[in-house]
Amino acid sequence: MCGIVGYVGSKPALDVVIEGLARLEYRGYDSAGVAILADGGLATAKRAGKLVNLRQALEEEPAPEGTAGMGHTRWATHGPPNDRNAHPHVDCSGRIAVIHNGIIENFASLRAELAERGHTLSSDTDTEAVAHLLEEELREVGALTEAMRRVCRRLEGAFTLVAVYADDPDVVVGARRNSPLVVGVGDGENFLASDVAAFIAHTRDAIELGQDQVVELRREGVTVTDFDGKPAEVREYHVDWDVTAAEKGGYDYFMLKEIAEQPRAVADTLLGRIGTDGRLSLDEMRISDEQLREIDKIIIIAAGTSYHAGLIAKYAIEHWAGVPCEVELASEFRYRDPILTRTTLVVAISQSGESMDTLMAVRHAREQHARVLGVCNVNGSTLPRECDGVLYTHAGPEIGVAATKTFLTQLVAVYLIALYLAQVRGTKWGDEVFAMVQLLATMPEKVEKVLETMDPVRELARSLADEHCVLFLGRHVGFPVALEGALKLKELAYMHAEGFAAGELKHGPIALIEDGLPVVVVVPPRARAVLHDKIVSNIQEIRARGARTIVIAEDGDDSVEPYSDMVIRVPAVPTLLQPLVATVPLQVFSCELATAKGHDVDQPRNLAKSVTVE
Ligand code: F6R
Repeated sequence: MCGIVGYVGSKPALDVVIEGLARLEYRGYDSAGVAILADGGLATAKRAGKLVNLRQALEEEPAPEGTAGMGHTRWATHGPPNDRNAHPHVDCSGRIAVIHNGIIENFASLRAELAERGHTLSSDTDTEAVAHLLEEELREVGALTEAMRRVCRRLEGAFTLVAVYADDPDVVVGARRNSPLVVGVGDGENFLASDVAAFIAHTRDAIELGQDQVVELRREGVTVTDFDGKPAEVREYHVDWDVTAAEKGGYDYFMLKEIAEQPRAVADTLLGRIGTDGRLSLDEMRISDEQLREIDKIIIIAAGTSYHAGLIAKYAIEHWAGVPCEVELASEFRYRDPILTRTTLVVAISQSGESMDTLMAVRHAREQHARVLGVCNVNGSTLPRECDGVLYTHAGPEIGVAATKTFLTQLVAVYLIALYLAQVRGTKWGDEVFAMVQLLATMPEKVEKVLETMDPVRELARSLADEHCVLFLGRHVGFPVALEGALKLKELAYMHAEGFAAGELKHGPIALIEDGLPVVVVVPPRARAVLHDKIVSNIQEIRARGARTIVIAEDGDDSVEPYSDMVIRVPAVPTLLQPLVATVPLQVFSCELATAKGHDVDQPRNLAKSVTVE
């Protein structure tokens, strides 16, 4: 939520910052703004709405040329998304500018104090308080970096802050607590951003900042300290993807590109997991086999699509590894009294590694001495640093707001965790684990096959563009797939969509069925005869009540034909792995339907990719 870019170097800062904002717009698109240090002064420009509005404003009234500056793309929290509340915010003199991601929880008292001391606040935001606090501190200490440290010590809540000061024109200062900020290290130029995508066209060398750190960015180097000014330890890393991964590559939308990339993403996430001895090995596990053998309960915490991956993980973990497993929404977890001990393993799944609900749940779990394993797609994000171990998904950057390829790779990751636990705990023989990993290795080609047969799904989606509601049904791992299908349709097409466990149908939801209502049903493989036959009965029940049945079934399953208005075929795979193929048509379906309605599928309304506030 909110994208931040800072730059000091020799290139025109405005170009670098605008290019960075374009790559970060997925984080929020309620407004955009820039501040450039030039000619001994500070120039700012900001506009409500998407970045295009700011670009247009800058064409009409160009900003002066400078080689240091910063930019912001906003997901509104405090105050409506208008020009006035757009970042940057400036102090009374107009010589200090601040941009911010997060929520400053004590903003009301700070604003009141500042107003009492005679400051004029001209927005509704929490951020503006920081500009005025810096103004006061700068009067005392003169240097922006020290002023920032002093201000940060007074703030409560979550924040990434970046500030510039006209009297210190070669410096950009950043600070972080609970919100993301990475440094890009260039040659005679340095960058700050919420995500490496913002500077990947310039450098792939990055520095991960820790909690409560302040960074001073100059052309010749970067200095990182804690909020008290003590030198801080940081982690340097090299980004393993390049700028082409963060571009549309000829597709109309990132989402289309990311759906198409799924076979490769699945293959990359599997890469290098089998050692020369034929045993599964997981990178950065950092939890010993002995500790894993002691685990007597697993709790998975996640949000949104990642939560759906968690629901599927439960089936795999309990089936293969025989460990009791619960799945919980991260936002609910710490508000009850979860029973956690040293023998509880918490698995936190987050694509971005920055979802605040998930991070807070992880902290809570660690305070209760549980071991925490993260599943994450973003190197350098907060989650891996806060967990005992991490399993990275190698999906590459996902820029479309709706999760697609990262969902499939999360599934691969949780299957690997389940199989690893089975291997370590001896609930499956080594050759059984190896056989399942071999099967997983065939999944990229199966996903590819699904992608090749999507034309009828697109046609169906276009024909349903004027519907008001679509239901999704599934059983076993097909149930989370149904939930995921419904979530994709809600967030992209803004349609009422619900996912149900098919067995629950007769306990209420069947009352929703009326003539012509489209219902998508995920049918388990025939090999699971009991599940399969039950869902075929469910299809008959809803069809008898007028539903238009759209059925996802494996190749060769003719039993569904008589009761289906349309059958979408997916390759036959073992039941537990079916979500990898069954989810793909649902992604294509919602993407096409939303596009037919004229929606921007990369930037759905009201959403942002990383939910960095609770
Ligand atoms: C839906 C979607 C969201 C995220 C959720 C968690 O398409 O993308 O529901 O899955 O916000 O995000 P992460 O995985 O980054 O914690």
